[in-house]
Amino acid sequence: MDPWRLHAPLLSPVSPTELRWHPSGAVAVGADGRMLYAGDAAALPEQLLALPARETSDVVLPGFVDLHTHLPQYDARGKFGMTLLEWLEHFIFPEEARFADDAVARDVSTRFFRGMLEAGTTTAMVFSSVHRSATHIAFEEAERSKLRVILGKVQMDRDVPAALLETADASIRDTEILIDAWHRKTERLWVAVTPRFAPTCSMDLMRRSAALAHRHGTYVQTHLNESEAEIRMVRALFPDAGSYTAVYRDAGLLGERTVLAHNIHASDEELDLCAQHRCAVAHCPDSNLFLGSGRFPLQRTLDRGIRAGLGSDVGAGTTLSMFGVMRSMCWVQARSLHPFLPLYFATRGGAEALSMDGDIGSLEQGKQADMVAVRVDRHFHRGRDLAHLKPLEIASALVYRSQPGDVREVWVGGESLYRAET
Ligand code: GUN
Ligand code: ZN
Repeated sequence: MDPWRLHAPLLSPVSPTELRWHPSGAVAVGADGRMLYAGDAAALPEQLLALPARETSDVVLPGFVDLHTHLPQYDARGKFGMTLLEWLEHFIFPEEARFADDAVARDVSTRFFRGMLEAGTTTAMVFSSVHRSATHIAFEEAERSKLRVILGKVQMDRDVPAALLETADASIRDTEILIDAWHRKTERLWVAVTPRFAPTCSMDLMRRSAALAHRHGTYVQTHLNESEAEIRMVRALFPDAGSYTAVYRDAGLLGERTVLAHNIHASDEELDLCAQHRCAVAHCPDSNLFLGSGRFPLQRTLDRGIRAGLGSDVGAGTTLSMFGVMRSMCWVQARSLHPFLPLYFATRGGAEALSMDGDIGSLEQGKQADMVAVRVDRHFHRGRDLAHLKPLEIASALVYRSQPGDVREVWVGGESLYRAET
């Protein structure tokens, strides 16, 4: 790729309470897709002024990171009116069984990654179905999309419909085949070992999954403490463990490369365990509102320094758009949230949760030029100069008012992969 530069208003999160706002900003992208510069245009180093330039009045942010979502549930969003366990049984397991058919897997995978890109998400951590072939196809489509994707075949060796049931032996074998084929096949692909959650996994499967992840240096993803009925079930299945989180600890699944989805109903001891093992949490507020799962312990998670980001959790989440998910993050807390916080969770927080913050998550020299341009002209009086906007005003517009259709262009590694027609 030829180096180039972009002149645009830039917004880049620094921490849960701080962001950088450059109303007259510039990014320069090198041949390797990393940023040679990101900041005020006026301070652009002279040697970069020779690069071919583009200009936009859209606000440019780091590409969104979706820390938890389910590809085979893309067409099952918004299946109404139940809590987690009934919803899985009635809608989700039958939907995932369709992925035994490669044609279904191809169709949904193609549309899913296209939807992700159009939403402005440039990195995603994704559950596939139980099927090795469907997961292989999902990886092919992930590669074709050029997004950064961490993906895993779901594992479950008990208490699911026969069509989805696998043995622990088959689960480990198929997962290892996928690791050999796809983990780090390109710079943008990773495998996550993916035991679905303790109710559908034997301790034997979870232990062997943890060992597999450790041996190959993959990620681990699973669900934790999402609903009260689920927690009661885990208590009955593992009466000696002490807590749901302790089940995963005993299996060896907790670690720096582990992302735990939800973790709503966590005791202090469980949050301490997460902090101690340095695992990350994917907060999925849109899903939590849809299933009525409960309110994420935001402050208790932050207080312990637990890394956290946002997940769309499609199909319990109704949208791949992180605008919707950020807004749900505010609503689920039932109090007004400072908009810097959801913006941070949707970008840099997610990158930190994946230990990828050296490469993505903010607009900074040296990081990958993963960017999304968002139109904001509809939010302000015509002709109003963005330079007069305070960071809080622009962040508020993005979090509380932006729509999926406001995404105007998306770049990964400096390459434009999507441009809206209007
Ligand atoms: N827990 C186990 N599987 C799932 C799933 O597919 N969606 C959600 N929201 N929670 C789960
Ligand atoms: Zn989930």
